[in-house]
Amino acid sequence: MAHRIAVIGGDGIGPEVTTEALKVVRAAGVEIETTDFDLGGARYLRDGEILSDAVLDQLRGFDCILLGAVGTPEVPPGVIERGLLLKMRFELDLYINQRPFIGTAPGGTVAHDFVVIRENTEGPYVGEGGVLRKGTVHEVATQGSVNTWMGAERACRYAFELAAGRRRHVTLVHKTNVLTFAGDLWQRAFNSVAADFPDVATAYNHVDAACIYFVQDPQRYDVIVTDNLFGDILTDLGGAVSGGIGLASSANLNPARTGPSMFEPVHGSAPDIVGTGTANPTAAILSAALMLDFLGEGAAADRIRAACTHPVTGSTTDIGSEIAARVAG
Ligand code: IPM
Ligand code: MN
Repeated sequence: MAHRIAVIGGDGIGPEVTTEALKVVRAAGVEIETTDFDLGGARYLRDGEILSDAVLDQLRGFDCILLGAVGTPEVPPGVIERGLLLKMRFELDLYINQRPFIGTAPGGTVAHDFVVIRENTEGPYVGEGGVLRKGTVHEVATQGSVNTWMGAERACRYAFELAAGRRRHVTLVHKTNVLTFAGDLWQRAFNSVAADFPDVATAYNHVDAACIYFVQDPQRYDVIVTDNLFGDILTDLGGAVSGGIGLASSANLNPARTGPSMFEPVHGSAPDIVGTGTANPTAAILSAALMLDFLGEGAAADRIRAACTHPVTGSTTDIGSEIAARVAG
């Protein structure tokens, strides 16, 4: 049976890169049935719809969601991010944000190969806090970080399960020397999961030190597990040291499969280059490969990844067509 995919092209370059990703999936011979959802900043400006509960319920009926990018400069920060992207992550319980990074050495060999498991439903992203006396010199803003044992434990468990099938090494990244409450909860959750995986080695890095290692010694990593905000920041750096953000893919997973998972490139909508044909669709194509892994189409996903290892140049559609040809051929 064809996999039923909800497609949210979104704003800016989102629809351009998503079109190429679907082209490649079809070239890989995977049967899909797509339904387009017109959501994002442009839609919001037109009629006020961000993501109503009715549309969210429609999305629940699909096998997966493929998203391009959302957000436009005309809409104030936070409206689309919180109302659409974070609403999907939270309401669909997409508690794992999996972001793989492969660095290629000049001769084409693999320089580093690691995966960041970013907790995706907690931390400062939950929107806890508020503002008092706004606009006065006495203004106060608080923005709490919510960390639950369940949230940290399930993120760590996913990381260890993933590492068990890879090079059997997991690094916890946090800031336990300053964020003593949240850091302590994370460290204990990590240790308790580690006890169930005696064959998996462990390490700990403070997030600031991890930034140095990402640049100077990324080979040390296999699987990294970290909280939502550290994971957000670190994965942009991961992209920057692994061929650029144009290659960085991500999977927002509900591993319990109580609803659809969502797949999107790490990059944003890049409104400055929309329509120029210069957006690299590889991140979206590799995100679609992660989607195929999750749909049980691992062989097709591997073929897509193999087709993306040799650099392709040209316009957005040139790159998509060349990768599609390699996958089909
Ligand atoms: C990402 C993005 C989002 C995040 C934004 C757009 C809300 O930066 O997916 O990394 O912070 O999670
Ligand atoms: Mn980000």
